Amino acid sequence: MKAIAVVFGGRSAEHDVSIITAHIPIIESLKATGNFDVWPVYISKDGDWYADKAMNEMTFFKQPDYEAILKKQKKIHLSFDNGLELVWPGFRDRKVKIDVVFPAMHGTYGEDGSLMGLLRMAKVPFVGCDMAVSAVAMDKAFTKQVLFAEGVLVVPFVWFTHEDFVSKDGVLKEKIAKLKYPLFVKPVHLGSSIGITKVTGKSRHPGEGRDPELENAIEVAFHYDDKVLVEEGVENLIEVTLPIIGNDVLTLASVERPLNKTEFFDFKDKYLSGKGSGVNSEYSKIPADIGDDLTKQVQELGRKTYKTLGCSGIARVDFLIESTTKKIFVNEVNTLPGSLYVHNWKKSGVSGVGLVTKLVVLAEERFTSQQSLTHTFSSSILQKVGGPKVQ
Ligand SMILES: Nc1ncnc2c1ncn2[C@@H]1O[C@H](COP(=O)(O)OP(=O)(O)O)[C@@H](O)[C@H]1O
Ligand SMILES: [Mg+2]
Repeated sequence: MKAIAVVFGGRSAEHDVSIITAHIPIIESLKATGNFDVWPVYISKDGDWYADKAMNEMTFFKQPDYEAILKKQKKIHLSFDNGLELVWPGFRDRKVKIDVVFPAMHGTYGEDGSLMGLLRMAKVPFVGCDMAVSAVAMDKAFTKQVLFAEGVLVVPFVWFTHEDFVSKDGVLKEKIAKLKYPLFVKPVHLGSSIGITKVTGKSRHPGEGRDPELENAIEVAFHYDDKVLVEEGVENLIEVTLPIIGNDVLTLASVERPLNKTEFFDFKDKYLSGKGSGVNSEYSKIPADIGDDLTKQVQELGRKTYKTLGCSGIARVDFLIESTTKKIFVNEVNTLPGSLYVHNWKKSGVSGVGLVTKLVVLAEERFTSQQSLTHTFSSSILQKVGGPKVQ
């Protein structure tokens, strides 16, 4: 039986959402296959690592004092000995060798490529996108820059760091003034609509070039991140999303249209109202009711975006459609779609069990092809280096 570690939690604003993703459906489905020895690996908000099979049950995390319970447990260490081992240090270390890792972390230190870098160093196959694309996709500005350079339509945007904002206020104001209202202000690294504000332009003082609403929105975004994006809002908006799996050969799920009633999804809408993507599927239309033409274009753009960024395993591409002009903009790419979008895959005949099984196979395939690359290069430069020149 293969040992599989599902890694979740972590030092991220999306820590709690990650716990839900890890359990529903990842751990549940992996266990249901009967083919895996599933190890839940939980990273606390402080960055401590724990592994205990009791954490395979969601009920463990429903205990209000679960953090205190864990603090009494032994933290694990990781050992990289041509693969990954979980180690419970003690008089005689207890060890478990891990065959495949299934990252289930949203946000910083997990979905942003950090964990993937660690797993690459450990030489262990892992599910989902690799390090570079995870890092790019985690930054909404980088994503738009890469896609724009490759001819994928994204909304006009301006990005800046806090330092830029303080020191180049005038230059930035000029750039932002070129954008058409309504505007969206976003911290570039966060998800789940945290820190995002729609700026209507109602409070603008055209004569003075000031907009208190915009200034306030930027301040809110800088509260969460040191890099901020201001972009044009898409009007007559239809949002659709497309989950994709695969390495070289891609399989597309159905184009899905979320039916949010509020102006835009906020955190509460997504996760706490019971209708969000992590919970159930009542809130969306699958397939999206946007007609064959737009559906085909979205599928094509989805493939192009996935390939352009270098995704592998699984990702979800989100689109903003201007429904009168029928312009399609790629909004963002999620390298760990909440709940893996199992509700959508099911409509294409792929069960949760089928999905996780396929993702593990894709992880192993990518690993094998990476290992087959030559990573060494023999040369004689070391022998030719001259003697020490220190004086
Ligand atoms: N440029 C835009 N035009 C119109 N609506 C937008 C725009 N950008 C974001 N939104 C709305 O805000 C939501 C959250 O923004 P998004 O960029 O997807 O961030 P998150 O990472 O939080 O999902 C989107 O789902 C959409 O409803
Ligand atoms: Mg989004």
